[in-house]
Amino acid sequence: MQNYDVIIIGAGAAGLMCAIEAAKRGRKTLILDKASKVGKKILISGGGRCNFTNLYASPDDFISQNPHFCKSALSRYTQWDFIAFMEGNGLSWTEKTRGQLFCDQKAKAVVDALLEACQKYGVEIQLEASIKTIKTHDTAFVLKTKNSHYQCDSLVIATGGPSIPAMGASDFALEIAQQFSVSFLPFKAALVPFTFSSQTLDEFIRDLSGVSTQVELCSESGKCFKEAILFTHRGISGPAALQVSSYWQPGEKITVNLFPGENIADWLIAQQKEHSNTELKTVLAYKLPKRLAAKLSEILFINKPMKQYHSTELKRIAAQLSAWSLTPSGTEGMRTAEVSLGGIDTRALSSKTFETLSVKGLYFIGESIDVTGHLGGFNFQWAWASGWCAGQYV
Ligand code: FDA
Repeated sequence: MQNYDVIIIGAGAAGLMCAIEAAKRGRKTLILDKASKVGKKILISGGGRCNFTNLYASPDDFISQNPHFCKSALSRYTQWDFIAFMEGNGLSWTEKTRGQLFCDQKAKAVVDALLEACQKYGVEIQLEASIKTIKTHDTAFVLKTKNSHYQCDSLVIATGGPSIPAMGASDFALEIAQQFSVSFLPFKAALVPFTFSSQTLDEFIRDLSGVSTQVELCSESGKCFKEAILFTHRGISGPAALQVSSYWQPGEKITVNLFPGENIADWLIAQQKEHSNTELKTVLAYKLPKRLAAKLSEILFINKPMKQYHSTELKRIAAQLSAWSLTPSGTEGMRTAEVSLGGIDTRALSSKTFETLSVKGLYFIGESIDVTGHLGGFNFQWAWASGWCAGQYV
């Protein structure tokens, strides 16, 4: 039996951060992970450059049944703290858009910096360690893997969510929650592309595959994002679609404003005066990708020279372009989701320590908890912040 003060299951963003902080406090700390390398999701994140935080991260960027829960951790370990960690390790960054920070030295450098800190403070890491059983013995936890038995006072579950199962992601956290009667919400794919019925794909989406345009996309619940969408051969992706997917329920429609922030009715009326013999699809292509303008003119309107439209018709066209309603048939699901909604019910946890309220010594951190960030570095910020906070108490 190998004894530790702290055992963390999961060598991802949250688990590594928690281990560093626990070990800094002199806790004998072990990380167990079933994967063959640490930080797999960090390595593939941000197209290999890791969008490691967001300059403007605030509690409003997170979705949870209890939106207040994340406030404490996010204020105790902020984006500036992780930026300082990066800079302290000689890593530089570039802001791409909307406060999204990417590592100039690529994602592997972020993992290397975390591993160096683990080494510096004496964190032990055991890879390819699948947990067979977890049992309690007095106030300790006893863990069994294929080859070893471990005992610890504090057990931290940092196994993330089940998005991209091909990478080994699982809902292990929920299995443990069930075992210890800790309440949870089922995981659900988020930040994921929308799919459409074969009829809609045949009607226009497939023909638009590869077309990208800036829009304001809104969920039926009224959550809107001004970013790009990208038509694919399966449906609609791009940052705006990924963001709205986190708020979408099956059967609901999504609404696309193709001219966000513009008075498109006035513009069309002005175009009618200036280009009276030009067809609508050509005029729309002044502002939209040509293929999209042509397709819209085919499926939504009758395409004709501008002079042939009555002004009420142009106003109706403008209204349609500002609120184009589409009904996805679903999403691509966990197979391609960037994160998962749901997880451990925050009401079962202390927002200060991340310890469960019902089982002393059992902690959950990172994506395994019902706190999910928007697209743009927020999910890593949550992993760092929750891991750091738990690391102060385990
Ligand atoms: P994480 O998933 O990182 O780590 C969990 C660890 O637990 C893994 O090492 C896994 O092997 C291990 N594990 C799982 N089950 C286990 C078991 N049964 N036994 C032992 N170990 C087990 N976010 C962001 O902010 N910026 C970005 O750029 C991106 N980009 C991005 C791209 C892609 C393709 C994906 C899939 C996701 C992102 N994300 C992101 C989201 C981000 O990766 C995610 O939210 C964090 O990695 C969550 O950190 P955790 O430490 O909670 O889990």
